[in-house]
Amino acid sequence: MNNINKTKPVVLCVVGARPNFMKIAPIFASLQNNSNVLSTYLVHTGQHYDEAMKDAFFKQLGIPEPDIDLEVGSASHAVQTAQVMLKFEPVLDQIQPCCIVVVGDVNSTIACSLVAVKKHVPVVHVEAGLRSNDRGMPEEINRILTDQLSDLLFTTERSAKNNLCNEGISENKVHFVGNVMIDSLLNNLQRTVSLAEIFANHNVDMPATVQSGSYAVLTLHRPSNVDDPAVFQRILGTVSDVARKIPVIFSIHPRTQKMISEMAMNRFLEAPGMVCFPPLPYLEMLGLMKTARLVLTDSGGLQEETTALGVPCVTLRENTERPITVDQGTNTIVGSDAEKIMTCIDDVLESGGKAGCVPEFWDGKAADRIVDILKMNYVTETSVQ
Ligand code: UD1
Repeated sequence: MNNINKTKPVVLCVVGARPNFMKIAPIFASLQNNSNVLSTYLVHTGQHYDEAMKDAFFKQLGIPEPDIDLEVGSASHAVQTAQVMLKFEPVLDQIQPCCIVVVGDVNSTIACSLVAVKKHVPVVHVEAGLRSNDRGMPEEINRILTDQLSDLLFTTERSAKNNLCNEGISENKVHFVGNVMIDSLLNNLQRTVSLAEIFANHNVDMPATVQSGSYAVLTLHRPSNVDDPAVFQRILGTVSDVARKIPVIFSIHPRTQKMISEMAMNRFLEAPGMVCFPPLPYLEMLGLMKTARLVLTDSGGLQEETTALGVPCVTLRENTERPITVDQGTNTIVGSDAEKIMTCIDDVLESGGKAGCVPEFWDGKAADRIVDILKMNYVTETSVQ
């Protein structure tokens, strides 16, 4: 555990899983720009730990090595959440931060929030108030509970405040600041990796049919899609049919790869037009999405990133916690029904898909807005002397 200068209030930032890294990067950078009044401390819980799921993101996003890695690794929800809590408590005791900043909706988010609130350390939740209204999703439980525990709640879209107020959270705690994930996207859009380089980096032959604007990108990892053999087989079967119309580039999440092996579904990956990659690093994924004809996904982050990029997104879920991507952006929710997926893709291929527009405050300045509010709340006259 690194030591820390406690003469200034310490903001302790928590990350755990892949989608946390692009959210914390701009916040951490903005905090460091204010190091005259605030100190920072970075905890990685170790929920994601592989080179492809963690290190590649830290490097490409310029996030410094964490001050401590709790190394919890993979386990059941109860074990993983409990391990984070057990290992986070002594860190909190030693660092005594003015607040903890948690992002998103993963198990590390709720685990650290629960430890902090019981010790009267304020919890700051970035990406608060999103609701799928589907309690079958582990993330929905994490969102609802984290928001209940938080002292400051930063939202990415205006609808989130209504969700929070409906759950009895005081609107004084809620601040609409925009989207830190889009801060990262805008900060890195000029640094993305080209198509040819992505294929070369992974020693994959680039089919002649894969050119800018001529391919679809696929990601899948939700337990509701990949853990149930009937659903997973239906989705992969449909996707391999899609690949006959347009090449499908599939970046395969570790959970999904495990299920493909266990359920012996490799034949779908070998279908004509399917091209498979391991989980791609941030700048490669962004490069791939930037020039895609469409994106097929069950990820939350990709629904937002495609809206910011103006690329059509077909979401393989029954609902979304990010309704602005549908109302204003390029997103269409289709679920996992084969016919619905195919009809939507045919429509996108024919019409070019929804044009959409970039939502309010998805402008690259969300992290600075957050840090301004943190300074107002936690920097006192005595702490700057
Ligand atoms: C977690 C988050 C989910 C997020 C996703 C992004 C929760 C409840 N879920 O789901 O919200 O969208 O991360 O990726 O917090 N594994 C590896 N290497 C790793 C990490 C995981 O091989 O570095 C494998 C393990 O076999 C593990 C499985 O992936 O059992 C699932 O990982 P886990 O962190 O439990 O959940 P995700 O599906 O990644």
